[in-house]
Amino acid sequence: MNKSPAVFRLRMLSRECTRKPLHRLLSAALLMAGTLLFSASWADEPVPGQRVVEQNCMSCHLSGAGNAPRPRHSEDWAPLLETWGFDQVVTQAWEGRGRMPARGFCQSCSREDIEAAVRYMIPEHLLDEYAPEP
Ligand code: HEC
Repeated sequence: MNKSPAVFRLRMLSRECTRKPLHRLLSAALLMAGTLLFSASWADEPVPGQRVVEQNCMSCHLSGAGNAPRPRHSEDWAPLLETWGFDQVVTQAWEGRGRMPARGFCQSCSREDIEAAVRYMIPEHLLDEYAPEP
């Protein structure tokens, strides 16, 4: 009679011990599968503009060096769009302005590539306001 709670506890303990590592293994496996799936779909179908931005623009724009508008920062993009509008902002990225080099040094980029890159850097809600997709 007296022993049974202790025995019960012991049993629970051993059950937990055998279950937990399996749990951990399973969740680690799921996490890995998820990551693989995620990166595979990422590689196959990049968001338009993403590759150009990562390869040509982030070196300056990620940190905002020299006042470069930081990707997806509303406070950086809103005043530019307010002053010039979307098309002119794209033109300034294409032709260069101030410390912004023409095409961000991307010689192989077409104007469409640059526009896609600018779109990629602008926060969604500002795109809706200033550059709705046709
Ligand atoms: C060598 C650094 C550098 C690189 C590389 C660069 N930018 Fe910029 N960019 C700047 C700076 C600095 C500004 C702010 C210009 C200013 O205020 O004088 C800027 C401004 C801009 C603007 C706002 C327009 C304007 O007239 O201020 C856009 C749009 C832009 N860049 C797009 C891009 C795109 C797209 C790429 C990649 C294809 C890119 N930039 C690569 C430094 C860079």
